[in-house]
Amino acid sequence: MNIIQPDLSSILNFISERDISAYKKQIRDHYTSLYNRTGKGSEFLGWIDLPQIFSTDVPGEIQSHAASLKDKADVFVVIGIGGSYLGARAVIEALSHHFGTLHDKKRFPLVLYAGQNLSEDYLADLMDVLDQKDYAVSVISKSGTTTEPALAFRIIKNHIEKKYGKEEARKRIIAITDKQKGALRKLAEEEHYRTFVVPGDVGGRYSVLTPVGLFPVAMAGMDIRELLHGALDMATHIRDKKDDFENNPASLYAAARNALYRSGRKTEILVSYEPRLFHFSEWWKQLFGESEGKEHKGIFPAAVTNTTDLHSMGQYIQDGERNLFETVLSVKSPTAELGIPSDADNLDELNYIAGKRIHEVNLKAEQGTTLAHIDGGVPNFRINIPFINEYSLGQLIYFFEMSCAISGYILGVNPFNQPGVEAYKRNMFALLGKPGFEKETGNLKRKD
Ligand code: PA5
Repeated sequence: MNIIQPDLSSILNFISERDISAYKKQIRDHYTSLYNRTGKGSEFLGWIDLPQIFSTDVPGEIQSHAASLKDKADVFVVIGIGGSYLGARAVIEALSHHFGTLHDKKRFPLVLYAGQNLSEDYLADLMDVLDQKDYAVSVISKSGTTTEPALAFRIIKNHIEKKYGKEEARKRIIAITDKQKGALRKLAEEEHYRTFVVPGDVGGRYSVLTPVGLFPVAMAGMDIRELLHGALDMATHIRDKKDDFENNPASLYAAARNALYRSGRKTEILVSYEPRLFHFSEWWKQLFGESEGKEHKGIFPAAVTNTTDLHSMGQYIQDGERNLFETVLSVKSPTAELGIPSDADNLDELNYIAGKRIHEVNLKAEQGTTLAHIDGGVPNFRINIPFINEYSLGQLIYFFEMSCAISGYILGVNPFNQPGVEAYKRNMFALLGKPGFEKETGNLKRKD
């Protein structure tokens, strides 16, 4: 079992080992609170055991339903927002062909997304696609009442019923929601949709290893057992090493990022050199942003994809405010193989790298950037990933989830709630005249 480890060596140019190990004792206590379900947000700690629980029976059910549905659909629409969307997209895009299913010989549906915004143009364009393609849809909402996915589902339900008739439409719709509560549960039961349950003790951004993430990932043709296998190996490793600070990746990462935060590093940038990890970074941003940004505290999570962003954000990172640190997802081997040909005329002056792989150039860009940023005063973590596959993504997901829980406890916040998300909703509902919200609230009053 090869466990992904963060490499902290270059951080030590900025903070001392003592600064990091100062968190040793409290981290041990935080593991006790988490594993004994006694800490803040203890009603939402179901994610801790998901790899064990779901590595037995649930994936079979998910896989067999996905296998029967996939043959009906060229397109599979995942409706959801926040934690009910980002985990699935992170995994699917990390493992898919960059240009859709054009080259996918296995012929799994192309996954498209809805309910993650309120853009009329976005939905109208999606409906154009759905007019022309055979499709199926999953509507995912733990609360079952979130406006964005509910609205997208209303539009798509109307479309799919017109396209296929109510009976066939019903077979093409999957609802993933709470076991009992919420409007979506009620709707799914009335309409006799196939449902999967979001466990009550798992919050949205920690739910990628439940049917919320697993069903869409299975529909896209990925191996959910391997994803869970990776998560399980990481979960077991972290638990085994809960008292062994120096060899526990989650302890080291949580301690080091808090030591950096305390030294004035208020922004963490997740850096990758693989565009297929773009949505993994989006998932990571949500995980840390929504978990830690509370009580006017928290590291601001940002992300860049290099080398693209070296030609935009690179300038700021190299030379701007020195309140940053970076966490680099360093991928050792690519999936494909593409060499650089030699050219007789060499007009582009690139013969000096002829014969090398593109990835070698990418790795040199990564090394060169890391050195430049360290010289420029930006601490860098490195997380070495041998290969992007289901197994390594499973490890990374669990590693970041546990690191985030520990890190939130170090900050003294509840990493499992999101009270701040409600503020915009109250105002939006008041502005839309939703019954019960007519009375204007805080910001609206201030405007007057
Ligand atoms: O992490 C969270 O809890 C949130 O991001 C939710 O996932 C998001 O608000 C969607 O909620 P729901 O699944 O209830 O529609």
